[in-house]
Amino acid sequence: MDKIAILDFGAQYTQLIARRIREMGVYSEIIACTHPVEEVLAGGYKGIVLSGGPSSVYEEGAPLPDRRLFEAGIPMLGICYGMQAMAYLLGGHVVPAQRREYGGAELALEGTGGLLDGVVPERDNRITVWMSHGDTVMRPPKGFTRLASTVNCPVAAMSDQKRRLFAVQFHPEVAHTPQGKTVLGNFLRACGVARDWSMTSFVDSAIETVHRTVGQDQVLCALSGGVDSSVVAVLVHRAIGEQLTCLFVDNGLLRKGEAESVVETFRDAFKIKLIHVDASARFLEQLRGVTDPETKRKRIGAEFIAVFEEEARKLGRIPWLAQGTLYPDVIESVSFKGPSATIKTHHNVGGLPTRMQFKLVEPLRELFKDEVREVGGLLGLPAEIIWRQPFPGPGLAIRVLGEVTEERLHLLREADAVVQEEVRAAGLERELWQAFAVLLPVRTVGVMGDFRTYAQVIALRAVMSQDAMTADWAHLPYDLLAKISSRIINEVKGINRVVFDISSKPPSTIEWE
Ligand code: XMP
Repeated sequence: MDKIAILDFGAQYTQLIARRIREMGVYSEIIACTHPVEEVLAGGYKGIVLSGGPSSVYEEGAPLPDRRLFEAGIPMLGICYGMQAMAYLLGGHVVPAQRREYGGAELALEGTGGLLDGVVPERDNRITVWMSHGDTVMRPPKGFTRLASTVNCPVAAMSDQKRRLFAVQFHPEVAHTPQGKTVLGNFLRACGVARDWSMTSFVDSAIETVHRTVGQDQVLCALSGGVDSSVVAVLVHRAIGEQLTCLFVDNGLLRKGEAESVVETFRDAFKIKLIHVDASARFLEQLRGVTDPETKRKRIGAEFIAVFEEEARKLGRIPWLAQGTLYPDVIESVSFKGPSATIKTHHNVGGLPTRMQFKLVEPLRELFKDEVREVGGLLGLPAEIIWRQPFPGPGLAIRVLGEVTEERLHLLREADAVVQEEVRAAGLERELWQAFAVLLPVRTVGVMGDFRTYAQVIALRAVMSQDAMTADWAHLPYDLLAKISSRIINEVKGINRVVFDISSKPPSTIEWE
């Protein structure tokens, strides 16, 4: 399989570069810029992309690519900081941040140089690109031709076709550079790669690999009903059928109808061996009298492990555990200074004890979330599961503020079901990162018919986000807000007020606890 490496210098767009290249039918991997150069060179890559990054090549300790990379005869594409580093190391003239440029810019085309072939001028021999840089290349290194410029940037694209070295100051991977794909496509052509990587081929080879890896062994999978574990379960089942047992620990903190739907989908529709453990009473017991959010989380996490261990032990010795680890969880230190900003801060409470000593099957390790959804679709999972929004491990317990009781869980579940239904009906489910109800620990006065009420308050939370690290509150249409509010107050006995959360993250968080 032909593959491309992306050396990461800490840019916020690095993952996007990898995804774009994959979308274009070539498998690509992100490698930390600190990775030993010998291994990169021995990795069999058909091309190397140098990503952007926050540094200046003149900064003390700036992460620079190893010179040997440029001499290996592998085609390279420098993007933003990657271009500056290439120019700097190969003898061009780079000036440190005097002319910062951020946002949309007009790129004046001067030549194609193998890199801008097929780029169509949008007006006056110019195209729109997205810029975000401090340092600027003033003169390309020997052997390079300048291909384009902007007002602030005399060399905005350059290439040395003989050595197959290419560079752009702008970001071809973002949607704000409408012809970015043409540029990336030209680079892939220079790399001579076959563009035949697809999700279908991925699924076939992943099934084959799981089959080969586990042989005749038994495999256990902790199924939560979320997208990742669901896709893993179905994929592994395709590979080894009856050798797979799924364990679904129902903590009683799921949304309305969710536990039933998990059982129905996996046991009935997919015929997967599924053990449904109804542990809701145990979890509720652990939560009795607890109001502190961290204590809730810890107790739920510990109880999950206890239940899982007990149930797994009943099954006898199972050597393998199938897990829905995704690529963003795996990518090692993305920036040279430390871990990437996108590595999850929330570990699933489903984290399993190391003492159980499973060998891991992680067939989704190389995929991004949207790719996992595509795999789910290819494997026939229902849209309802594939498009399920992220749901926290501690479940509704961290959305029932204050003490978690069966009655309060019931109120929240009913109110939340209205939110889910209406958001779906409005066609916003996929657009929103999350939309849910939170039950507040206060009561307020209301009037219903001729009676005074003193009842509970629901807060509605809806956010837009790329990765949950930051989020904006979603500007839901007033009609939708009105409908949700009136349905909750009318249909859920015990609620007499609905408020809408208009805080972003940061400084707030998505969940309330
Ligand atoms: P916050 O509230 O920190 O949440 O802005 C960010 C994202 O993470 C989800 N979340 C969790 N996911 N286990 C999880 O698997 C957890 O303990 C947990 N806590 C929060 C939250 O729903 C949001 O998408």
